[in-house]
Amino acid sequence: QGIRPLIAGNWKMHGTVREAARLAEAVREGVEGVDLLVCPPFPHLHTVSVVLLGGRVAVGGQDCHAAGKGAHTGDVSAAMLRDVGATHVILGHSERRADHAENDAAVLAKTKAALAAGLIPIVCVGETEAERLGGLAESVVRGQLEGSVPYGFVTAGGIVAYEPVWAIGTGRTPTEDDIAAIHATMRAALVERFGPAARATRLLYGGSVKPSNAKPILALPEVDGALVGGASLVAEDFLAIARAAP
Ligand code: G3H
Repeated sequence: QGIRPLIAGNWKMHGTVREAARLAEAVREGVEGVDLLVCPPFPHLHTVSVVLLGGRVAVGGQDCHAAGKGAHTGDVSAAMLRDVGATHVILGHSERRADHAENDAAVLAKTKAALAAGLIPIVCVGETEAERLGGLAESVVRGQLEGSVPYGFVTAGGIVAYEPVWAIGTGRTPTEDDIAAIHATMRAALVERFGPAARATRLLYGGSVKPSNAKPILALPEVDGALVGGASLVAEDFLAIARAAP
């Protein structure tokens, strides 16, 4: 029995609250047979969550702090995300790793906090272009997985997203063979570490997924869905990607 696909939209730092509500309204009926998730910017989360109540689309955050609460100006806790209706949180996105110097240890701590609060973490991994050209993609991804995925992740339904940094927002994607190879590596690494339960862990691909390339990517072995940036800001495109899922 296959894993039900998940198409997750990462809205990043875009839009007004009104635009977010409209986008949520436009996708709320979802797509039969596919799980959908949208991750709006923090100020829009509550509104989006209210719009999506009773719909077929779940809501997630784009980050959370490792601590439960405290003096952390500008940060948001996993419990706060839960409180406004989020069920998921994206962690260790390469933009966070780059903009906020988040390393594997930081992502690990955040992932533990998310699990403790009952959120499903989506941990992002992926090589830079230099690492890919240097033949290091698989070892980088293995290392990031090892370093940022804690014990308890698999049984709690944790999700991994493979996002090659050079494919994010660039319109470039790895070859199908390259995506399949990394996903096979991730599956093997997780099964090695967590046992057969990790065969059910969802592995998403992210990086320039759009309606025109979604079908072949989503059909690849060990690809259980997509983490979509730019195309998730256009309701028809996001739904078209979901419809392309096998
Ligand atoms: O989290 C989503 C990714 O960073 C992909 O972004 O679809 O705009 O390339 P993109």
